[in-house]
Amino acid sequence: MSRFIALVPAAGSGSRMGSELPKQYLPLSGRPLIEHTLRALAAHPRIDRVFVVLSPEDGWWEGQGIRHEKLAVLRCGGAVRADSVKNGLKAIASEIATDDWVLVHDAARPCLRPEHVDRMLAELADDEVGGILAVPVADTLKRAEAGQRIAETVPREGLWQAQTPQMFRHGLLLKALGAAGSMVTDEASAIELMGLKPRLVEGDARNLKVTYPRDLELAALILEHWGT
Ligand code: C5P
Repeated sequence: MSRFIALVPAAGSGSRMGSELPKQYLPLSGRPLIEHTLRALAAHPRIDRVFVVLSPEDGWWEGQGIRHEKLAVLRCGGAVRADSVKNGLKAIASEIATDDWVLVHDAARPCLRPEHVDRMLAELADDEVGGILAVPVADTLKRAEAGQRIAETVPREGLWQAQTPQMFRHGLLLKALGAAGSMVTDEASAIELMGLKPRLVEGDARNLKVTYPRDLELAALILEHWGT
């Protein structure tokens, strides 16, 4: 039986947040943002281990006091997200089988629910390729041109917003990221470049990524609503 492992890239500086402290350490409902993310994954009974990938220069982690029996820290983050994930996958290669599933999840998505993970495992555990949590686009989309004017309306039919977790087998994902280079912004893109078609598993907008300061307020409201 293949195991399920979580890998959380958390080596970003969060420059769009406009804060000295990287966004994963900003306070959210009384705890560092990243603690909510890691606990959400570690609390799932079918996830065996949670690996967090930090920047080698990270001077904040130790002071946070984040501990969990399933949690292991890897200090091998890279210059961009894809490098952090690839370095993390290499670092855990001796501990897991090539067929084990890895759920790559952004540190900056603290509102993940067990139901989201349940749905992914139910829909993907027997899948040939793997897949990602995503949400169908609800808004009308506009492409902008110079002067912030609308150049065209983009049909939203068939468009989805990619979220995380993104769930692929360890061996396939490492090979895909190795071939894709550093510029891919998610794991599915690397798999797509191999000519494979990851499956879209429907999630919901509450699994938001904290990017701007106002996202923190929204995340706090969502966590409060769920009582976590
Ligand atoms: O910056 P963005 O929100 O797209 O980052 C998504 C995730 O990738 C975050 O959890 C961030 O910490 C992580 N990341 C990383 N290494 C980098 C850049 C981003 O692990 N060099």
